This record gives sequence, structure tokens and C-alpha cells, in this order.
Amino acid sequence: MCGIVGIVGQEPVAARLVDALRRLEYRGYDSAGVATIHEGKLDRRRAEGKLFNLEKKLDGEQLPGLIGIAHTRWATHGVPNEANAHPHFVDGVAVVHNGIIENFSELKDELIADGAVFTSQTDTEVVAHLLAKYTREGLGHREAMLAMLNRVSGAYALVVMFEDDPGTILSARFGPPLAIGHGKGEMFLGSDAIALSPFTNEITYLVDGDVAIINHKGLEVMDYQGKPVTRKSQISQATAFMVDKGNHRHFMEKEIYEQPEIISHALGHYVDFASHTVKPTDKAIDFSKLSGLAISACGTAYLAGLVGKYWFERYARLPVEIDVASEFRYRELPLSPTQAALFISQSGETADTLASLRYSKDQGLKIGAIVNVRESTIARESDAIFPILAGPEIGVASTKAFTCQLAVLASLSIAAGRARGTVSEAEEKAMVKHLAEMPRIMSKVLNDIQPQIETLSRDLSRFKDVLYLGRGTSYPLAMEGALKLKEISYIHAEGYAAGELKHGPIALIDEHMPVIVIAPYDRFFEKTVSNMQEVAARGGKIIFITDEKGAAASKLETMATITLPNVDEIIAPMIFSLPIQLLAYHTAVFMGTDVDQPRNLAKSVTVE
Ligand code: F6R
Repeated sequence: MCGIVGIVGQEPVAARLVDALRRLEYRGYDSAGVATIHEGKLDRRRAEGKLFNLEKKLDGEQLPGLIGIAHTRWATHGVPNEANAHPHFVDGVAVVHNGIIENFSELKDELIADGAVFTSQTDTEVVAHLLAKYTREGLGHREAMLAMLNRVSGAYALVVMFEDDPGTILSARFGPPLAIGHGKGEMFLGSDAIALSPFTNEITYLVDGDVAIINHKGLEVMDYQGKPVTRKSQISQATAFMVDKGNHRHFMEKEIYEQPEIISHALGHYVDFASHTVKPTDKAIDFSKLSGLAISACGTAYLAGLVGKYWFERYARLPVEIDVASEFRYRELPLSPTQAALFISQSGETADTLASLRYSKDQGLKIGAIVNVRESTIARESDAIFPILAGPEIGVASTKAFTCQLAVLASLSIAAGRARGTVSEAEEKAMVKHLAEMPRIMSKVLNDIQPQIETLSRDLSRFKDVLYLGRGTSYPLAMEGALKLKEISYIHAEGYAAGELKHGPIALIDEHMPVIVIAPYDRFFEKTVSNMQEVAARGGKIIFITDEKGAAASKLETMATITLPNVDEIIAPMIFSLPIQLLAYHTAVFMGTDVDQPRNLAKSVTVE
């Protein structure tokens, strides 16, 4: 994940900017850069690789200036080289960016037709060109910023300096976080409060849709129409050595809200956003030659694998054998070296998953690890590592790791489909386009549904039992919804395949047990609605999680309907994860449980 820092200072800023970037290193990066304005001129140093390389450059060629911006880049659009490193300069405009500009291809074509010359492969450069164009056309800096923001779409944190205003930094947030630091006669800006901790602990967190301007007078925040908005500052507890909750009450809440940002970086590892193709996968596993896949994992990671099974079977026509690792390891499952095995684990240390891996290895299978911790035992013992790049997950209940596992599995299943000739070039393009839209849609959904979910969670917290239902990929999601709810709110919850309702659980339906139905308007929708009817006929209370088409098509009375945007099937599981995570989170908050460390649970289960 990229890191961003900016300083409007009274003393030289370059060394302090690099120091702040160092505290963002944990986010991961592959190049870095810093820019300042000195004597009315923009200047920059950029380097591929670690900050050490940038520092070496700065030692050789100092960068004076009392104002500057800096960036650690985690490559998504374009390889990690110096030309693609930020800040990007165009005609006196400097830009750093975290996230994805989804419509950059169209904008780039338009700008090139207008005479713009691009010097990098990044999506970011379109922002600098747009700003330069609008200022050339006579707009003031803030007007140019607003005009640019109204042209770009995607999930982004953007930070901008104009050479002819060496006292101001402009920024905007839609998705990835931005924190503003208030110093004594100086102002700061960073991806999080940890980056700014040596400078100040008075922090204002921007929210999606904020445009912020910092200068020696302080902070000004407005919306995309230029209307002023008020954002209060707070005293941050962040130190350079801790992972910070930001302005969230719990790590779980923070981790839910950082998903749009995190997932764009995870995706960037697997898909090319410019050509809308999947990137080549680790050669250790050749999907084109496999007779089948075995997948194993525990808990939430297992449920991600179950969604993956639907995808691999549907898109790559690859049969998948999947089981929870505690069963897989003892089943004496006949496996063949013509199959490969995937093990999914956030921690990479889960004992049962590791034992299943070793069992599969003994059977001669090639092993792939879908892990968050690359140095973990599961990763080390695998032939191919597929990192989920979710960053540290502190809340015991897995949220962002789950959606990143899904993003990786979706990308791998498309790659496998291409390798096996079951996904056409056009289908690949369409699916990758949908994946690229996901961070923006996630940001919007998180903002839109939060108030409704909070109210609904108050009602849900009064019940003792909850049933979750879903079909297709919504079935593993139903199980994940139930798992999340029970582990942090301690409300008894079960997730069932909707079609199984009448084979038993229907006996439980009455007004004391809400039934949460996950049903996007997909090919299973009508069938799931029939199951809902069975619930309604027995006085059951329905909480309906659907999309706009589904909400319009269903005539049933519900306790609540949570309506998400219509999205493609390939991203629906990630988008529909958001309401179930928020529902569990807010219910647990109402119940007053220890959300981040629920009783009896551990983050890394290294015993059987
Ligand atoms: C639930 C949860 C657990 C883990 C499981 C596997 O929210 O977090 O069910 O998914 O313990 O852990 P990892 O992924 O570390 O192998």
C-alpha cells in the first residue's frame, strides 16, 4: 500500500518527509520519492526500491525547501521504476496518489488528443495533467482541484502542490485514508497518524469526499462542490511503534473501513488495471495442466476457499476438493500429483492448515499458499506464495483478510480459466474491469449503509438466535455472516444453504429468530425468494440483503432490507461481505462485548 506525507513547514522538510515515510514502510512499497518547492521551483528526488536508495540520492543532491510532499509507491499501474515513482510533475503541478483512478485510460486518451505528453505508465499522471490543463484554462488552484475531482473516478487519496503557491498543499480523500496533523506554525498530512507522530499528536481525519487545504493558517476542509465542512481534530495515541486505530473505536472497525484501499493494492498484484488482464501467476503451479485442486483452511479462511471453489469450478472448469483443515488432515483423502493444493491462512501459522499442507506435499502435490504473512511457516513450506497483502490484521475477527483472500481467489480463478481456455479474452477483460471498480463501490457501500446497519444492529442485539441463508457464493457468505456474528456478539447464529431450509432448520422459524437472507439479483434469486416466502409464511422476521434489482423485484415484507448497488457476480461476494461485517460489528458494540478480542478466541491458532 502506498504511503503519503506532506509538510507545510518553517524549517527544511526533505529529511523529515523521509523520516515520516519510514514510519509508513509497514504498508509495503517498491519505490519512493520526495518533492519540495524552493525559490519558486519544484524539484524532486525519486528512487526505485527501499528508502535507503532515496536517502542516498538526497545525500548526493540535497533538496532544500520549506514545503514538500513525499510518497512510497506500491506498484499497481506500471512497473516499480523511477519514472513511475511519485511525485509526478506536469507544468508546475506535483501530485502523489494512493489508490486507483479507474477511468484513467479514457482520461489519458482525451489528454493525449489534447497534446499532453505522458512520461510514466501510472494512472496518477492523468491527475497532474488535468490540474495543469485546468490552471492553463484560467482556473484557480482550488477550482482546478474541484474540477479534476469531478472528472476522476475510483478510490484515492490525492495530494497536490502548485509551484506558484509555495505555502499550500491540497488534498482529497475518497477511499484510502488521510490524516492532517496540526503543528506549531506548521501543518502536516499523512496516510496515518503514526507517520506524523514525531511532529504532532493533534490529528484531523478526513472522510470520503473531503477536500482539504493546509497552509500556515491551518486547515480548511470542503466537499467536492467547494462547500465548507467542519472536521474536528483529536489527540492521537499513535506512536511510531504501534499500529494505530485512527479515529475508529476498534481495530475491527478500522479494518472494515480500510478494505477499499487494501483491496486495490491486493488486486494490483494480480491484475493489470491498464490492459484489464490478469498478471501471470507463479509458474510453480501450472493451472493449464491440473486435473483438480484441493483447498483447505480454517474458519473464515475456509469460507473464502469455499467461495473460491465456486469460482474455480465455474470459470476454470477445475474440480475442487475442499474441507476444513482439521478434517482434511485426517481424512486420508486420495490425492494425485496431477492436482495442486491451495492453503489459505491469514496468519500462515494455523496448525491444522499446516498439517494439511504437509499431508498434500507428501502426496506429491504442488502447494500454493494464500497468506497474509509472507514469512510464515505455511508460506515457507509452499511452492508458490500468493500474498493477500492485507497489512496487519489486529482484530481477532477476520474482515479485511477475508475480502483480500476473495480478491486473490477471484483473480487466480480468472488466471486459471485463461490458462485452461475456459475464459475468453473478452470475458477476462470484463471481469478484471469489474474487479477494478470494486474499491470505489466498497467505499460507497460502506458510507451508504452504515447508519441503517447501526439502527438495525440495535434490534438484532435483542435476539438470542439468528439464521443466515444464501445460495451459490452467497452460501459461504451466509456461513461467514453467522460466524462473524457469533464470535463477536456471542449471539447464536447459523449459516445455511437456502435450499436446505426445508430439510430441517425451518422447524426453528418463529418471530424470535430473525432470518438474514443474502440474495443479490443473480441466477439464484428467484429460488432464494421462494425460501424467503417459506420463512415469511411461518411468521419469521426477514432481514434482506440484496441489490437494487433484487429490492425492486421482491414484494415480501421484511424487518429490514439492505440495498446494495447492482454489481457483477465476480465482485458480489466482496461487496456483500461489507453489510455482514458491519452487522456483526455494530451488534457486538451494542452488546458491549470485547470486539477486538472476543472471549476464548486467538488470532493465530498454532495448536490443533
Ligand atoms: C474468524 C477468524 C478465524 C480464522 C481462522 C483461521 O473471524 O478469524 O476463523 O479465519 O482461525 O486463521 P488463519 O487464517 O490465520 O489460518
